[in-house]
Order: sequence, then C-alpha cells, then structure tokens
Amino acid sequence: MKFVLMGITPANDLVVENLTTLKPKPKDEDLIFGKVYTDRMLLREYKNGAWQTGRILPYQNFSLDPATLVFHYGQEIFEGLKAFRQENGDVVMFRPDENAKRFALSARRMMMPEVPEDYFLKSINKLINLEREWVPKARGNALYIRPTMIATEAILGVKPSDEYYFFTILSPSGPYFKEGFSPTRIKVEDHFVRASIGGTGEAKAGGNYAGSLMAAERAKEDGYSQVLWLDAKEMKYVEEVGAMNIAFVLDNEIITPRLTGSILKGITRKSVLQIAKDLGYKMTEKDITIDTVVETIESGNLTEIFGIGTAASIAPVGEIKYKDKNLSVNDGKVGPTTQAIYDRLIGIQYGSVEDKHGWIHLVE
Ligand SMILES: Cc1ncc(COP(=O)(O)O)c(C=O)c1O
Repeated sequence: MKFVLMGITPANDLVVENLTTLKPKPKDEDLIFGKVYTDRMLLREYKNGAWQTGRILPYQNFSLDPATLVFHYGQEIFEGLKAFRQENGDVVMFRPDENAKRFALSARRMMMPEVPEDYFLKSINKLINLEREWVPKARGNALYIRPTMIATEAILGVKPSDEYYFFTILSPSGPYFKEGFSPTRIKVEDHFVRASIGGTGEAKAGGNYAGSLMAAERAKEDGYSQVLWLDAKEMKYVEEVGAMNIAFVLDNEIITPRLTGSILKGITRKSVLQIAKDLGYKMTEKDITIDTVVETIESGNLTEIFGIGTAASIAPVGEIKYKDKNLSVNDGKVGPTTQAIYDRLIGIQYGSVEDKHGWIHLVE
C-alpha cells in the first residue's frame, strides 16, 4: 500500500479562496433531495505521492481529460452525511467520525489513498462553517454533505490511478422520499444482485450504485420506491435496500441482517442498534430469509419493517412485493416501534433529545 501515511500534510492545511457572487438560497418549504448546491466546495488533489494543500473554492465545474481513469474504470468512492440546525441554532454533524472511517475503508478497498480522518473532519467542518447560512431550519430538512474521491490520472489502462481529487459538495435537502415519513413500497429483487461476498458491497463505491440501476428502475416502473436485495449466492437471505439498511419487527424483536461483507455498514444502522437498546427493545443482528419475512407477514407475527439510512433516516415500509405476492405491512401504517426509533434518532439530531453517546459534532 504505497499511499498510506505518505506525504500527509497537516489537518489545518487548507486555504479559503474568495467568493465573489452568492447564489439565491431556496426556501425551506421548497427543498427536495439533492438538487441545489451551496456557494463553496472543498477540493484537495493527490499527486506525486502526496496530498496537496486543500482549497475551499467557489462551487465550480471540473475540467478533466477524456482519458481520465474515473471515466473508464470507475475508481470512485463517496460518503453521505448530514448537518442539522438544532433548536438552539447550533449547526451540528451526526457521527462524521464514522463517515471518515468508512471513507478510509472504501479507499483501501478501491486502491485509493486514504484521506486522514482528522483532515476529513476538520476540512468538512470548516466548509460547513463557511456555508452555515445554507443549513435549513425546518425539522426534516438538513444540509446533505457529499465527500467524494475520484481517480484523475489521464491514462487508458486498468490500474490504480497515481492522481486523485478528494472533494466535498453540500446540498440543502428536504425528504429523500417524496412520501416523507410515511410508509413506502419496496420490491424484493429476485433476479439481479447488488453485491457478493468478496466483491465491493461493503465499500461506498459508485460502481455498486451503477450496477443497481436496472433493478431500481424496473421497480420504479411498477410503483415501488426501492429494491430489497437478497444475498448473491442463494438469493435467500435479505441484505439491504437500495440506499438503506433494513430492519424487521418480528415477535417483538427487531432483527437487522448481520454484516456479511456484502452489506454496507450503515452508520444509522449502528446508531439504531444503540437506540433500540436505550429504548428497551431487543434488537439482534442475524440472518433472515425472505421466506421467513413472507411467512411471518402472512401469519401476523412480523408487524413492522423499516429502512435505516442517512438520507431517509427511518423509512417505514408499508408494502413489500416478492415474486407474485403483494404483502401489506401493518396495514400500510407507521408502526409504534418504527415511530419510537424515528422520534429518538431525529430528537438527537435536532437537539430535542440528549445526546448521551457523543454522536453530535458541533460545527464551529
Ligand atoms: C447501499 C446502502 N446501504 C445502507 C446505507 C445506509 O448507510 P448510512 O446509515 O451510513 O447512511 C446507504 C446509505 O448511505 C447505502 O447507500
């Protein structure tokens, strides 16, 4: 691993360029997910075996040679986290240290240089602090943060790039699903797979999402908002949803699939495991087959299903389709466990519930 710990410049190695024009800021009530970007972005280049001085510059296009590696072989990783405006006006990030760690994990898997965690945190903190006016005020809205790394060497040849851009853009965002916090419909994919053991499913790599598009689009044509993926080997075990982990309330226990190596290690999932414990629920990480899900919905033992992820936070599932079966979950309504977990998570993020676990990072 020739990159790791080579040529690291200090975490405060960041210059801020002048901004001459400001974009109009959208009203909170007009926000949808991921359509508007703030005035500034962060960019740090890696070349000659070292990270160069990072820059916060006006939001702008890149000019890249058509032979640039990312366009051909997809060496790209990203993260997704949020900054919230709390009730007292503070701007906070939720568990950004976990995103920094997962970004490093993804970088290792994709043969890219790691961004030191301290640099990741401090540079993003600085960017958000400069852009704090853009953090929405309404509960349910947030500033979505998208750290990304791309291979920028211009060469046609399948090999790790010698040059990279690490950049971060910010997007004031509303709810991820147009339904907001109301039950969504998901389709179990029984033909295509997202990731397999030994593949790149655990990394947040763009290619994983490109490969998922066909199934997701077909599901959308049938009126489902996301795909529920099964394991690639047997098409038997439930893994995760398109952009969320998943949990089932079965016989008064919350079950979420265990991390097998092909599932993304969701930070919200990790937080919900703790929240469930705090609220006195039993929550277990274990294998669950799709046949069990179907049978226990039919028998009435499976009472709730919810998705778990940064973008949607907690997404109640009201209907699930598997092969020729359309199954309603909790009569298409939000169940009490889903509601309690949502309230606690959102409460911590927006500052109305005490942050007992040190998950909140004040932007200053
Ligand atoms: C495939 C996939 N699974 C799960 C998640 C949830 O992860 P997190 O809670 O860290 O956002 C995401 C979202 O990033 C995702 O893209």
